[in-house]
Formats: sequence, structure tokens, C-alpha cells
Amino acid sequence: MTDYATILTETRGRVGWITLNRPEALNALNAQVMHDVVDAAEAFDADAGIGAIVVTGSERAFAAGADIKEMEALSGSEMLLANHFGQWSRFAAVRTPTIAAVAGYALGGGCELAMMCDIILAADSARFGQPEISLGVIPGLGGTQRLVRAIGSFKAAELVLAGRQLTADEAERSGLVSRVVPAAELLDDAQRTAETIASKPLPALYAATAALDVAVESTLAEGLRFERQAFAGLFDTADQKEGMAAFREKRAPEFRHR
Ligand code: CAA
Repeated sequence: MTDYATILTETRGRVGWITLNRPEALNALNAQVMHDVVDAAEAFDADAGIGAIVVTGSERAFAAGADIKEMEALSGSEMLLANHFGQWSRFAAVRTPTIAAVAGYALGGGCELAMMCDIILAADSARFGQPEISLGVIPGLGGTQRLVRAIGSFKAAELVLAGRQLTADEAERSGLVSRVVPAAELLDDAQRTAETIASKPLPALYAATAALDVAVESTLAEGLRFERQAFAGLFDTADQKEGMAAFREKRAPEFRHR
């Protein structure tokens, strides 16, 4: 397993764990974090022994945003030419299901990183927000786009324009998080949830994450067309034959790709 400067990685069964580890900066997302998270996520994604990835932070902060001190002095053209946040789209594109296990602050880029995942589990201590407006900027990692799709334009606008934060409960009511759990149970719950997902057949998981992405990225007609094609394609997999045979024979399936 690779040693990274800003994250810890671990494999628990078929689950890959990425733990942000910059406690001195509340896990602020600098260029090194981006490099490390993308590299680790792509390595897990390329490993057929991994069926789900959990991304988490600390009890105090999932991540308090992009690293303000790193980017403060940059010019607009430097930001553009360096494609400063560009690699994060590679994280959002991993095929393996991703779960953000969020405790404490998920602000700015932290909230946006969570929204790049397929599932967001929140500890009751979690706080979500897009405070960039108070820094003289706007969200730059998808906040204005994914938040509107997740919670609707009027609620999103209050977060983006006024910098209001959502508690874990309000985030759940708003559709931003999948579930809220007591903080002490967050990591165990994330592992259990990830294990359940990772026990399913990989080809169907990959098709499902792709179809869910298409749902937020395109029109209904395009999404339905994509879903129909992906559904049909799965009938050429051994796992579809096994899954349906097991149902008919009233036994547990033994998936070739889990
Ligand atoms: N970037 C760089 N350093 C950060 C940081 C960030 N986003 N957030 C926290 N830190 C650092 C602090 O500077 C501090 O370091 P020092 O001890 O060296 O001063 C350390 O982490 C601990 O933070 P605080 O002392 O501020 O802790 P607190 O408990 O008093 O406050 C907080 C916590 C409310 C989260 C506060 O740290 C805060 O407001 N952080 C910034 C939040 C923010 O504005 N995020 C958006 C960033 S821009 C962005 O994300 C753009 C984008 O869309 C990609």
C-alpha cells in the first residue's frame, strides 16, 4: 500500500478507506490532498478486490474547504493555467461506489468533496456549508451545481449567498445526506454500508454508479436511454445469470465478481 503525505489508506475486506489527515488545517484540501485522494481512489477503483470506497476525515472536520492559504496569492490566470482543482473530476469519475462519512465541518470544498461521492453518511455533529462568499469568491469544486441538484435552488442559494450552514438533521431533511447516525457509530456504520455494497456484483455496481451520474448530468430522455442500454448489457455478465439462477433456486448467489 502506497504511503501518502496527507491521507491514510487502508483496506478492510473489500472496502477501501481514505482518511484525510491534515489535522493542523482541519483537512483543508490543498494540491497534495487532491493528488493523494485521486491517486488512492483510482488505485482502489482499478482493484477488482475492492467493491466500495469510504472517504472520511476526523471527528472535528471532514474537510474545512480548499486550502485558503495555498490559493490566496494566486492570480486568475495562474488558477486557470494550473487547472488548480482540475484533478478532482477524476475522483468524481471513479466507478466504484463511494461513501463520504462526514463528521464535523464539511465546508466549501469539503462539502463539495462529499457531494462527489455516491452516498453521504453524516454524524450528528456534521455541519455542511459553502462559506466562499465571505472570502470574496464562490464555490469552485461543484458547489453551485451539485448543491442545487441535491437540495433545490432556493435552499442552495441561501448557503451560497449567505454562507448559512446546515446541521446534519437539516441536511438529511433537505436530501443532502443519505442518513444521520450518532457520531460514535459513524465509521462502523460506513464500513457496514460499504460491505453491503461491496458484496454485490461489480459489473452491476459500475453500471449503477454510471447511471446515477447520468441522472444528474443529463436529460430524462438521455438518462432513460443510457439506463436501458446498461440494463441490457448486464445480461451478458456471469453475475446476472448467477443472480437470477440463485433467485429461482432459492439460494444465496455466489457472484464471480462478488
Ligand atoms: N484553508 C486553510 N487552513 C484552514 C482552513 C482552510 N480552508 N480551514 C481551517 N484552516 C486552519 C486554520 O487556519 C487554523 O490554522 P492555524 O492554527 O495555523 O491558524 C486551523 O486550520 C484550525 O482552524 P481554526 O483555528 O479556524 O478552527 P476553529 O474551530 O476556530 O474554526 C472553522 C473552524 C469555522 C471551520 C474555520 O477554520 C473556518 O472558517 N475555516 C475556513 C472555512 C472556509 O471558508 N472554507 C472554504 C474555503 S474556499 C473553498 O473551499 C473553495 C472551493 O469551493 C473549492
